[in-house]
Parts: sequence; C-alpha cells; structure tokens
Amino acid sequence: MKKTLGLFAAGALVLALSACSGGATPSSSGSAGKGKALSEVVVGFAQVGAESGWRTANTKDIQDSFKAAGIQLKFSDAQQKQENQIKAIRAYIQQQVDYIAFSPVVQTGWDAVLNEAKAANIPVILTDRAVDSKDTSLYVTFLGSDFVAEGKKAGDWLVEQSKDAKAPVNIVQLEGTTGSAPAIDRAKGFADAITANPNLKVVASQTGDFTRAGGKQVMEAFLKSQPKIDVVFAQNDDMGLGAIEAIEAAGKVPGKDIKIITVDAVHDGMAALAAGKINYIVECSPLLGKQMIDIVTKLNAGEAVPARIVTEESTFTQEQAKAALPDRKY
Ligand code: AHR
Repeated sequence: MKKTLGLFAAGALVLALSACSGGATPSSSGSAGKGKALSEVVVGFAQVGAESGWRTANTKDIQDSFKAAGIQLKFSDAQQKQENQIKAIRAYIQQQVDYIAFSPVVQTGWDAVLNEAKAANIPVILTDRAVDSKDTSLYVTFLGSDFVAEGKKAGDWLVEQSKDAKAPVNIVQLEGTTGSAPAIDRAKGFADAITANPNLKVVASQTGDFTRAGGKQVMEAFLKSQPKIDVVFAQNDDMGLGAIEAIEAAGKVPGKDIKIITVDAVHDGMAALAAGKINYIVECSPLLGKQMIDIVTKLNAGEAVPARIVTEESTFTQEQAKAALPDRKY
C-alpha cells in the first residue's frame, strides 16, 4: 500500500494529474468496470497539450461532457511531449482506473505502454489521433476525424479554384507536429488531391507544430526565401492565423495577395474567414466528449463498440462562415 501511494505521489508530482470532476476515487480493481454504477467509473485521459484553439475546445468539451454524465475523469496535459503521455498512462495503470483514453501526440512508439494497459486489463480508447500499432487488440476503438479526407477536401477546393490558372500556382505548407497522425494524413490527402492540376506545386513545407507562434515564424521564413507565394495550406487554424500576422507584417494582404486554406474551423479561424483573411476552412470537430461518454457507457454495460468511429465534418467558405459564426460553440 505504502509503495503504491509512493508511486502515485511521484507520478502526481511529475504529471500534475488532476481530477476534473470532483471526488475522483480510483476504482478498487483493475477490471474493465463492466456493470458499475456510472458514478463509480473512473476514466484517465491523457491529452496532447494546449497547443491550439482546437485543443482547448476539445479539452473543455471532454471535461464538460464527463461532468454532465457524472463519470469521474482524471486529466493530464502532456505539453506535446510523448514521454509525458507515457508517464500519464503509466500513472493511470498504477491507479487502476477503469478506462484509459488518450490522443497520441505522435503515431509511433506506443506498443510497450499499451501492452502494460492490456496486461492490467484496462481498455484503451483512442480519441482524435491514431497510433500505428500493428496489434489492434491494444485498443478498443479509435474515435476521431478522417485526416486524409480533410487534406483532400482542402486540395479539392484549391483544384477547383485554380481550374483556369495558366501559370504555376506556388503553395507553401505549414505542417502540424512532426510524426503526428493529422500532419502525416493531411499532407497526404492534400498532395493526392492537387495532382489533378499540374500547375499546383508545393514549393516549401515545414512544421509549425500546430501553434500560432510556429505558423508565424515559419511563414516569415517562407516570405524571405520564396520569391512567389500564391497559396498557404496551413494544417490548422492557429498556424494559418500566425501566417496572417507574418503576411500583414510583410505588407501583403492575406486572403487576396496570398490565399489561405486551413483546417479546424475554431472561432478565431472562422472570424478570420468571415473577415476575408482566410479563403477556405475544412472542419475538424473537437466535440468528442459525448461520443466518449457513449463509448464508456457501452463498454461499462458490456456492449460492443465499433472499432472505428469517424467524426462528421463539413467545410466553410467565407459566406458560410459569416452565417455560421453567431451560433458557433467554439
Ligand atoms: O489532432 C487534431 C489537431 O490537433 C487539430 O487540427 C489541431 O489544431 C490540433 O492541435
């Protein structure tokens, strides 16, 4: 018992784990929690960080949903570091939570810790991002977007907009976190789509780590190194918003001199789209909380859940953003 408490205390120090709905008492067994009263179910959630408006909205939605459902949620913020997420998951195993949910910072390197969760008989739910583990028995389900489809939607829009282009259209890409599923998949979907028009060419591509500061910094460098930039494809709104700052500082007009396409459709991105500074946004929904509750409730009742649950998403033009903004929840 002493040893267990000691380990828990050490984990808590390193990770600053916090229970986000009151009275989070770890379950007394490491079982899947089947048939428990929902108020006794404990879920440990290892979040990526707070790198973007999307992530903040995602965290809030998950915390609010668990509170409303009366299910205990333990929350940790990995500050975009895989080692922090692994420590958080190990702490949740140590605490014998009923379920572990996490949004993997990067795709690779999860097998060891997922095998530890499996050995402890704790089902794992992947939210938002995938892992590349060959052994799919290491997690129960993956709830989140189809990132390849998101990149493709961005590319398809540009192909349509550029159908009359006679000269090369130079694109710069602001990539998300290197090695993360959305960065890999959005780049793929976008690249596949733009092959439809040989005039469309990605002339530079670099990571801005899904942050506004990163997007601004990389765009400043692109503006210095690239003689002609026609389009920015930012793999999230925050990097697009950073790029807007860099473009304006360089004396150019975002949305006109340089067209901007982003992914997410969070409030600040939608406001920039409505103001004409962004040209098109592909939606990536951060509202995963209710579906997580549904999954936990079903698993707790011993019911099966689909191995893959794809989030429904749309796209926004400038006109559509103006109409949607007043009712936008995030
Ligand atoms: O995994 C989803 C991505 O992560 C969002 O597009 C981005 O804004 C976030 O940081």
